[in-house]
Amino acid sequence: MILVNEKISLQEISNSEAADLFNLMKEVYPQAYDYFWQDGGDWYVNTQYSEENISKELLEENAEYFFVLYNGEKVGNFRIIWDKTLDNYNEKKKSVKLHRIYLHSKIQGKGVGKKLLEWLESTALQKQYELIWLDAMDEKPQAFQFYKKIGYQYHSHCFLPFDLLHDRYRKMSQVYKLLV
Ligand SMILES: CC(C)(COP(=O)(O)OP(=O)(O)OC[C@H]1O[C@@H](n2cnc3c(N)ncnc32)[C@H](O)[C@@H]1OP(=O)(O)O)[C@@H](O)C(=O)NCCC(=O)NCCS
Repeated sequence: MILVNEKISLQEISNSEAADLFNLMKEVYPQAYDYFWQDGGDWYVNTQYSEENISKELLEENAEYFFVLYNGEKVGNFRIIWDKTLDNYNEKKKSVKLHRIYLHSKIQGKGVGKKLLEWLESTALQKQYELIWLDAMDEKPQAFQFYKKIGYQYHSHCFLPFDLLHDRYRKMSQVYKLLV
């Protein structure tokens, strides 16, 4: 368990908690993204949070997968991949990818996201990492504005090919922050 501050902690997810993670994300993901999808996001949650995919992501080398706890309650997930490079960045930088951060709507806007990213920045700096990057959906201003406000810059973008995603929500940008 990692204590981020007196209210927020990160608890490593174990294989036996795959069902807990699925049930949490079945609630949290559609709160934010249901309108992106023809099926309300069911296919996406069922795929990303299947027992098989969770096991695969837990085994991935250099990755850490956490529940976010707020006052001891599981309210989201947080996954990072160390040494994952940002494609086509013009200089070689020691990089970490923030792969997932999803917080329950009841705790959004209370500074939890910002605290988690501050924790990631200071942890990355201690380990001599130079750059943090992530993928963000352009049509989700809550996330996009959040990253912009805490200093992330545009790098590149792509369009997601998933069949059930509505066309106007396909754009996904890679954004990054230099630490040094
Ligand atoms: C995006 C998310 C991680 C942000 O975390 P959060 O805890 O809600 O955000 P915070 O309260 O830490 O806000 C940090 C800053 O971003 C700003 N911000 C947050 N939401 C915003 C919004 N909708 N519009 C504009 N700015 C916003 C805040 O004003 C705050 O700035 P301040 O410190 O100057 O007040 C969280 O809302 C979330 O999980 N959303 C749903 C899932 C999602 O989209 N995840 C991202 C996937 S890439």
